[in-house]
Amino acid sequence: MALLTLDHVTLGYENLIAAQDISAQVDVGDYLVVVGENGSGKSTLVKGMLGLLTPRKGTISMGDGLKKNQIGYMPQQTAAQRDFPASVGEVVLSGCLNRRGLKPFYGRAEKERAEQAMGLLSIQDLKNHCYRELSGGQQQRVLLARALCATEKLLLLDEPTAGLDPLASQELYAIIRSLNRRRGVAIVMVSHDVNAALNDARKVLCMHRTLAFFGSVEEYVKSDCGRFWRGGGHAEEESWVRDGGQGDAPCGCGEDGCDHGDKSCG
Ligand SMILES: Nc1ncnc2c1ncn2[C@@H]1O[C@H](COP(=O)(O)OP(=O)(O)O)[C@@H](O)[C@H]1O
Ligand SMILES: [Mg+2]
Repeated sequence: MALLTLDHVTLGYENLIAAQDISAQVDVGDYLVVVGENGSGKSTLVKGMLGLLTPRKGTISMGDGLKKNQIGYMPQQTAAQRDFPASVGEVVLSGCLNRRGLKPFYGRAEKERAEQAMGLLSIQDLKNHCYRELSGGQQQRVLLARALCATEKLLLLDEPTAGLDPLASQELYAIIRSLNRRRGVAIVMVSHDVNAALNDARKVLCMHRTLAFFGSVEEYVKSDCGRFWRGGGHAEEESWVRDGGQGDAPCGCGEDGCDHGDKSCG
């Protein structure tokens, strides 16, 4: 059953089309990895799934009783956010904001939920520590616990391993895998680390402002797009981008049916 269905969705900002004509589906318990170059529209797509951006065209619908405020979200981190002056317990509890509704304070149910999320990520001992004094790997665990407060169904993770050393990345992937396999939480994860992410994923979506690929991991590794990304490189040089098909890259000018095929005309 589909949790999220994107039907020919176009998203953008003012004069820029950042993600054009994207169709994809996230099922109950699914694990979707979103890949693509910098600026290819990955974070924009995640913001669309979360309801932070309204589609200019197309529709995003939710199934299995999922509501917008039941999606856990771990945004892409900036240096300023890493310096956040709050305790670990406070950061995790702030993930319950949507559950608190109009009440002025967090109640027992929200506090228990935050405790449970810290337990799942083995960070109870850090509860009274200052967030900004933690290592990168510990901070990402805290943010994952925060995202978990909102959901048992769907987590949207935007580059959760960015800036982590290989060991901390592996640990975080293992936690995400366990949330997916043992607890049935559906995962949508933006990742630069395609090969590592593919170990656990079921589906891949490759962005190039348009949809360059959407399908199973098995189909992806055999595709031109998959061979290219797993080898590393620059998409602009590649035939699967230049020659169109699913990979026709709009220039960002926002014209209907734009076929300029490069970014210079916008
Ligand atoms: N808040 C914003 N306002 C205007 N343009 C934005 C905003 N966020 C992203 N963009 C632009 O949208 C395009 C896609 O960005 P993004 O989705 O962040 O890409 P990615 O996550 O793949 O690196 C880029 O050209 C970026 O500059
Ligand atoms: Mg991004």
